[in-house]
Amino acid sequence: MNITFIGAGNMAEAIVAGIIGNEVVTAEEVCVTDISEARLEHFEFGYGIRTSMNNAEAVANADVVVLSVKPQIFPAVWPEIESALKPEALVISIMAGIPSATIAHGQPIRVVRVMPNTPALIGRGAAGIAAGELATEFDLEIACTLLGAVGTAVVVTEEEIDAVTALSGSGPAYVFYLLESMLEAADQMGLKPGISRNLALATVIGAAELMLESGEGAAELRAKVTSKGGTTHAAISTLEERGVKDSVVAALLAAQARSKELANG
Ligand SMILES: NC(=O)c1ccc[n+]([C@@H]2O[C@H](COP(=O)([O-])OP(=O)(O)OC[C@H]3O[C@@H](n4cnc5c(N)ncnc54)[C@H](OP(=O)(O)O)[C@@H]3O)[C@@H](O)[C@H]2O)c1
Repeated sequence: MNITFIGAGNMAEAIVAGIIGNEVVTAEEVCVTDISEARLEHFEFGYGIRTSMNNAEAVANADVVVLSVKPQIFPAVWPEIESALKPEALVISIMAGIPSATIAHGQPIRVVRVMPNTPALIGRGAAGIAAGELATEFDLEIACTLLGAVGTAVVVTEEEIDAVTALSGSGPAYVFYLLESMLEAADQMGLKPGISRNLALATVIGAAELMLESGEGAAELRAKVTSKGGTTHAAISTLEERGVKDSVVAALLAAQARSKELANG
């Protein structure tokens, strides 16, 4: 299976590293394109894959084309790519905010849309995968296998992609925001930065893994560590009084609304 990535950026690198490292494909099967020679050299020497500065040539033999340029670059690159695609090629787009119907624009092109997130850079990503109108179950399987090499891949409908964008696409930023706040408090309480960073990170990872392994709900796990009159109760009561949960819900809905706006141009 020949796979060509259009745009040799951070996300493309995460996926290339994952699929080659996990032997999903061989290096000979992968090609990336970019406008930067330095980026292409980085991929050539780092992963032993083919590279090109010519998008049309690079997709001519590709069974799968991954659109991994910024969304604003798409209108400029798509005409040259589209005219050079093999008729049976699958197009996988990781570009935020561009609907599959915009990519296919009435042509018989099979498109799968993917919303990844940045922990893919360390093989711990979370991606929503949605079939465009003509994409098959097998196309979804291909996308799940590629994204599964860099974390968790979940199939959703394309209508759900805006919600996925709000939840897991932008999600790492919410966790960083919480960590930022926890570390600011730790500083005010006089803990040394090295110590508080270690403890805060281990706490976030440990809590997520506890929830994963126990299979219990977030509210259930929280109740277990919140005894009335205790320290956790004092903290959670303050968060509740200040409407933090409502704010988080409003934040995700705002992200979903913005994602819809971007998709509608
Ligand atoms: N990063 C995330 O958290 C995240 C999450 C979800 C979705 N995405 C999506 O993933 C896509 C890639 O994101 P990224 O962070 O990897 O972006 P990026 O690092 O900017 O990668 C895009 C690459 O494409 C290159 N490029 C520009 N014009 C090109 C052309 N005509 N032909 C070929 N390559 C060209 C860029 O070069 P220059 O830099 O020299 O312009 C850059 O190296 C975006 O569409 C984004 O919406 C990203």
